Amino acid sequence: GGFAVVVVAAGSGTRLGRGIPKALVDVSGKSILEHSLERIEASGVTAAHGTWPAGPVVVTVPPGDTELTAVATRHGVRAVEGGATRAASVRHALEQLRSAGCSPRGVLVHDAARCLTPAAVFHRVAAAVAAGQGAVVPVLPVVDTIRRVDEEGSSQGTVDRGLLRAVQTPQGFSWDLLLEVNDAAAGERDERITDDASLVELFSEVPVRTVPGDEAALKVTRPMDLLLAEAILATART
Ligand code: CTP
Ligand code: MG
Repeated sequence: GGFAVVVVAAGSGTRLGRGIPKALVDVSGKSILEHSLERIEASGVTAAHGTWPAGPVVVTVPPGDTELTAVATRHGVRAVEGGATRAASVRHALEQLRSAGCSPRGVLVHDAARCLTPAAVFHRVAAAVAAGQGAVVPVLPVVDTIRRVDEEGSSQGTVDRGLLRAVQTPQGFSWDLLLEVNDAAAGERDERITDDASLVELFSEVPVRTVPGDEAALKVTRPMDLLLAEAILATART
């Protein structure tokens, strides 16, 4: 098969502070998960690369959830129970795909919270994987000056911002590689594992490549991000 997409939506949204799973929070009349699934669908990314047939889309939802599951079902997408961490949620989704006999060429792992990610970002990532890269992440330059501090908060100097990038999703992988590094990690808890590409770095020799991300692919994390997301939707271009 072609590209499968894992949409992780099993988080609780603590920093957003709404008391409901973040993926259920409304942005201009639709839930965050609905925006995400609509954009993935509209992008056509599961099918559009070379002769690869379309892969499935799987959404991770919080244990006991029914509402996000209903959203997924409405979009013809399978929901699977997430885990205690993002990494565990991704692992559950991969296990589900594997046990369903699914064997796509590539897989995209996407944060539901990046609900306004433009189609072009999905396609840049997928195209790089289809062209033979094992691991691909969309990135943006870092705008703030970044300082390293010690445990007391004393400055240890400024980091060269020119060589830093903020990492977004979707992150793209060859299917075999993402399975392999997830098997190798075997549920290990490591602070360095904040995304899927980190697993590739820690548990394989395959280089992680970057492609340009997009400001509209921001992760809705804190209350102010909702204002930004609604403003982005209110402007014509996206
Ligand atoms: N996620 C998940 N399973 C988890 C934790 C997170 O599927 N156990 C998903 C979230 O739903 C989100 C993405 O991973 O789409 C990025 O996580 P984050 O922005 O941290 O979302 P939350 O964990 O929900 O937010 P917070 O950390 O503020 O609680
Ligand atoms: Mg979180």
